[in-house]
Amino acid sequence: MDKYRIIGPNRLIGELEIDGAKNAALPIFCGSLLTSDPVFISNVPKLKDVETLLKLFSELGVSIELNSSTATCGLQTASISSLEAPYELVKTMRASILVLGPLLARFGEVKVSLPGGCAIGNRPIDQHIKAFESMGAKVTLVDGYIHAKCRKLNGSRIKNDMVTVTGTENIMMAACLAEGETIIENAAREPEVVDLAIFLKSMGARISGEGTDVISILGVKKLFGAEHKIISDRIETGTFICAIAACGGDVFLRNANINSIGVTVTKLRQSGTDISVDKEGLTVTSKGKPESVSVKTAPFPGFATDMQAQIMAVNLVSNGTARITENIFENRFMHVQEMKRLGAHIKVNGNTAVVTGRERLCGAEVMATDLRASAGLVIAGLVAEGETVIDRIYHLERGYADMDKKLANLGADVLRVNQC
Ligand code: EPZ
Repeated sequence: MDKYRIIGPNRLIGELEIDGAKNAALPIFCGSLLTSDPVFISNVPKLKDVETLLKLFSELGVSIELNSSTATCGLQTASISSLEAPYELVKTMRASILVLGPLLARFGEVKVSLPGGCAIGNRPIDQHIKAFESMGAKVTLVDGYIHAKCRKLNGSRIKNDMVTVTGTENIMMAACLAEGETIIENAAREPEVVDLAIFLKSMGARISGEGTDVISILGVKKLFGAEHKIISDRIETGTFICAIAACGGDVFLRNANINSIGVTVTKLRQSGTDISVDKEGLTVTSKGKPESVSVKTAPFPGFATDMQAQIMAVNLVSNGTARITENIFENRFMHVQEMKRLGAHIKVNGNTAVVTGRERLCGAEVMATDLRASAGLVIAGLVAEGETVIDRIYHLERGYADMDKKLANLGADVLRVNQC
């Protein structure tokens, strides 16, 4: 398995470009299934998860024109050859569940493998299923597959038991072609949900309230082709801000959008990191040795759970003690044991980790366990003295393109090592 070999510590100096948002690209690609017209998407990130979704799309019979050099992708679902998302693909990427709503709404039938759990938690999809049943679909679970059928979906008033990002997105997409109005209460407010709504409206959908906790969708008969540029990735932006806060440095993050990472910016400014905004992006400067900052993860606009491992890495070398509480997923501290191998001082009690900043960390061999844990380990490795080798880097590459190259361009000593 491929690894990263990092030799630290190094300050980070220079400029990098933030890619399109993974968690906007995935639902927006699935939104293209709602029309038989061609759709053209730009600012597409070059990520493993996007590759996996496109593999699924080709199994469904979607015609795909992906151009990595221009970061664009043309999609057309004029002729679908299958309505089944197989276990082999769904098990590698849970977001495949996002084909359920569009295919059900457009074709009246769909079979999607039940996504298994994952490292960070069970991640059930009961809210998705409950919503589709309330819209008139018959949903059965046979041999590990969700089989949903309906003559026509009907609009419904849906109150999610908890804020669910892909749940909100799945329901919103299905409701675009339902008969009548659908109201989603306790809807997710994430910027990626808003970007999806903007894309769907450009296809002719009638949606209002996106970005608030009540979204209403008036079903239409047909949706049409459209073009859309994906928003910049707020989690990639936050990850690099954390790296600069921990290591020290002066970096311009081109295309970073401060509006989508509000709380992360507030917290990192509290740590002593200077973050200034201009129309092209953000300038982030830090002397290193940050002040400790405590966070509690929450749905947007709260502190993103996808930033929890990264802010923990900042606190490993901070002045003081921080409390990090994970309120979204039941098992999202897998990076703690690995960070301790670098000399981190962390005590976990239930869903709270108490992190006491150390003068220094020492490089060691560690193992990535999930996407954002691996980002936290990269930051810890950058600031640790000596060599850190991070194994199973495929976790990182699901959500970050060329992070080794981007960091090396900023002066870090990072090398991707191919291991058989
Ligand atoms: C999305 O996952 C993101 N993925 C995740 O990012 C992110 O961590 C998560 O939202 C929370 O912000 C994509 O957008 C592709 P949820 P999602 O449904 O939609 C429970 C990354 O690192 N729940 O908002 O799967 C669930 O168990 C990934 O890029 C139910 O109980 O998350 C969790 O505790 C990781 N039943 C909470 O709700 C349901 O039917 C929030 O989950 C749905 C969710």
